[in-house]
Amino acid sequence: MIRFFACGLAAFLSVVASAGFARADIHALDFGKTKNGEDVKIYEITNENGMKVRVMTRGATLVGLEAPDRNRRISDVVFGFDNVQGYESKDNGYFGATVGRYANRIAKGKFTLDGKEYQLATNDGPNHLHGGDGRSFDKVVWKARRFENPGECGVKFTYTSPDGEEGYPGTLEASVTYTLTDKNALRLEYSAKTDKPTIINLTNHAYFNLAGAGSPTINDHTLRIFADKYTPVDATLIPTGEIAPVEGTPLDFRKTTAIGQRVDQLTATSAKGYDHNFVLNPKKRGEELTKAAELVDPASGRKLTVYTDQPGIQFYGGNFLNGVKGKNGQTYAYRSACCLETQVFPDSPNHQGQEGWPNCVLRPGESYKHTCVYAFSVKEKETKRAADKKSAKEKKS
Ligand code: GAL
Repeated sequence: MIRFFACGLAAFLSVVASAGFARADIHALDFGKTKNGEDVKIYEITNENGMKVRVMTRGATLVGLEAPDRNRRISDVVFGFDNVQGYESKDNGYFGATVGRYANRIAKGKFTLDGKEYQLATNDGPNHLHGGDGRSFDKVVWKARRFENPGECGVKFTYTSPDGEEGYPGTLEASVTYTLTDKNALRLEYSAKTDKPTIINLTNHAYFNLAGAGSPTINDHTLRIFADKYTPVDATLIPTGEIAPVEGTPLDFRKTTAIGQRVDQLTATSAKGYDHNFVLNPKKRGEELTKAAELVDPASGRKLTVYTDQPGIQFYGGNFLNGVKGKNGQTYAYRSACCLETQVFPDSPNHQGQEGWPNCVLRPGESYKHTCVYAFSVKEKETKRAADKKSAKEKKS
């Protein structure tokens, strides 16, 4: 009888939560210690629709994101681990981390700034990847401060990277703020200041599977990327410098396309699948953020729309995943999630001043700013009539 009552109450509370009566809330939990004995905390943020986000101080990392499907069923749609040791393991894939000081690759770890050459760690074959080896931003413990505003709440993480850390010049005061809104959007705002000229490119490395993390594939997810061009790469995934049209290639996502439809055409290339930087179409006048991408899981209806003020987005399709064990007993198989990393272009430090290439230099007195919004919604099931109408229209155009 008691059990029956408890189940009934749980079901009632879950209906109340999914009906939009939950209270927005944020609280901190201990998550254990790093191998150096530093305390790590997780902040659990819930909005009034019952959507939940978990972020941790190590790597200012997104650890969990529970979003509703079209039937209001909640699933965690990002990869992660149950403990700090998982995140410290060699197979951590940068799951959910804030990546920096320079996300993506720098050729041979070298760049020249104001006539001085700098050498960074080469931790990805001959190249520098995601800020280096030792104290890259995904590995350090950030300070955290929670906040609540009307209609949203979140956590601001701060980290001061000393001059010369991982070979980068300048003391860098960096922050990333995660804000969960009552409209089911997760907003990430990065900012940084330096005391010497330096380079910067911060991003987030969340792996999304909108059917629920641990589901076997993303081949059936559909994707649209608002980019006419991309930056082709060489055998070590370093951009050749060219900015090429996506037209006529498997990278043409200007129309919504299933990820699995053409991915095998890229398996034998250096990228081994989707692992490319797309040059986002310019912002429309008056727009603060541009729509960069739309990812949909047609079965559950979960839809993720990415907005940003950055010029590029790396679409990485999980080609290096190999069955690593994640949180809640999940297994993360080959190509079972994708990252949509808003950023400046890879290897930009070696293309400064080149036409079409963005600035990545930060000087004393300037502020680095970057916003990325991961907005969640649902796509209702298409009726047969609507689908037929759409395909007839597509055939015509
Ligand atoms: C991505 C990158 C991939 C791979 C991955 C980490 O951002 O584009 O090539 O390095 O990170 O496994």
